Amino acid sequence: MPNLLRIDASARQNESHSRALADELQSQWLMAHPDGKVLRRDLAKNPIGPIENDTIVGYYTPEEAMTNPLRDATALSDELISELNNADALLISTPMYNFTVPAVLKAWIDQVVRIHKTFGFSDDGNLQGLVKGKPAYITIAIGAQFSGTPLASMDFLRPYLKSLLSFIGFEQVEFFSTESTTMDEKQMVLNRENALAEIAELFSAEVA
Ligand SMILES: Cc1cc2nc3c(=O)[nH]c(=O)nc-3n(C[C@H](O)[C@H](O)[C@H](O)COP(=O)(O)O)c2cc1C
Repeated sequence: MPNLLRIDASARQNESHSRALADELQSQWLMAHPDGKVLRRDLAKNPIGPIENDTIVGYYTPEEAMTNPLRDATALSDELISELNNADALLISTPMYNFTVPAVLKAWIDQVVRIHKTFGFSDDGNLQGLVKGKPAYITIAIGAQFSGTPLASMDFLRPYLKSLLSFIGFEQVEFFSTESTTMDEKQMVLNRENALAEIAELFSAEVA
């Protein structure tokens, strides 16, 4: 049975554009995988705190030297990484907050991007991602229009997530964006229609 891991990061529940796009993507994924299961982590409803001292110590402590307090401090990271490893596809819905990811999503990232677990070193000493063989779908909402405008150079959200997910091994990272959500409504509707068409195209290709 295929699993979709869905991570939501908008502080808004009902009016959220990034969640609305993710709802659509999730329902198309379920249509393409009728026996599929969705595991949802809503980071707004159940936020993860900032990373702590002992968690970092635990990350760098070899298994044979782990103590119970360090095991406790890395338990959440273990759980989140196992959710990621068990998933056949990852769906993240996120707004742009101050040009990048919301703090709640960064807190999740700090728990899952972990040495020897999701990235490591190859025999010749090069960094390598360890999360292999699954796509990442990211639905994005941005207040202003960045694409095709001078603001594009201040988009630290999409390039960051693309680099980060590639770093831990994802080879397929697809973005579906609604921009201009707090600016020009006509432009926003156009962006949303384009994103919905891209989602439909992705899954029509998967089903075909
Ligand atoms: C704390 C905060 C920071 C924001 N920062 C930006 C920003 O840097 N650039 C921008 O264009 N819009 C910004 N916005 C607007 C959101 O990106 C926009 O409202 C988006 O639609 C929110 O996502 P949602 O609809 O999924 O909740 C910000 C909103 C909040 C609440």
